[in-house]
Amino acid sequence: MTNLAHIELDEQTITKAYARWAPVYDLVFGAVFERGRHAAIAAAERVGGSILEVGVGTGLSLPHYSRDCRLCGVDISEPMLRKAQERVAEYALSNVEGLWVMDAEHLSFPDNSFDVVVAQYVITTVPNPEATLDEFARVLKPGGEIVLVSRVGAEAGLRRTLEHWFAPAARKLGWRTEFSFERYAQWAERTSGVRLIERRAMPPLGHFSLIRFAKDGAARRARSGLTQEAYPAARAAS
Ligand SMILES: C[S@@+](CC[C@H](N)C(=O)[O-])C[C@H]1O[C@@H](n2cnc3c(N)ncnc32)[C@H](O)[C@@H]1O
Repeated sequence: MTNLAHIELDEQTITKAYARWAPVYDLVFGAVFERGRHAAIAAAERVGGSILEVGVGTGLSLPHYSRDCRLCGVDISEPMLRKAQERVAEYALSNVEGLWVMDAEHLSFPDNSFDVVVAQYVITTVPNPEATLDEFARVLKPGGEIVLVSRVGAEAGLRRTLEHWFAPAARKLGWRTEFSFERYAQWAERTSGVRLIERRAMPPLGHFSLIRFAKDGAARRARSGLTQEAYPAARAAS
């Protein structure tokens, strides 16, 4: 079996892959991931307030949030983010406070900035998933939630074999096919102040899951978003 340690994802592979995906992404992945996106949005809206979408991509989800939620989006791919910016203009999404080119693993936001951190179809595309989850927990306010929709690899059987076999090709396309749920559960277990609160199977074929984590702490304070001063100096999408 291929040793996956030798074919880990890196930032260059990802940015190249998503520069290629950007023009056709909505066509290929728009409808197929729609139910997962809607489930994540519903979960995020139950918390409400200020929401950070990491790996916001072309911004497919942005028009579907209630206008009461204040949204910030980041993505490592400028071509994907440019599409998101066009969508914000097209739908006049005045509740989108900013879109930034930014690495999920090194977010330029202060600690305890957001009520919810959402990442849809992102965790299996980042080089260091656990370090990225640490970063989500850091920018999340006490009492807030991390809401993921993510591919979960099979534990055993033919699907698991196929996922491992397909892994090298998937890396070039910009994601991992194999990624066990154990990694999420273990991350929560060893991360102080974070609890796994939900795992729900999602289409297509139940190969994806909605995964929610809560950050312990006092009830969230004022539901205000970031102050203008707290906005990162990182380059915004234009
Ligand atoms: C499969 S797409 C999902 C896009 C969007 N969330 C959706 O629901 O369609 C993965 C996105 O994650 C972004 N991404 C990958 N690695 C990243 C990183 N380290 N930091 C920020 N964004 C990243 C990619 O550029 C891409 O836009």
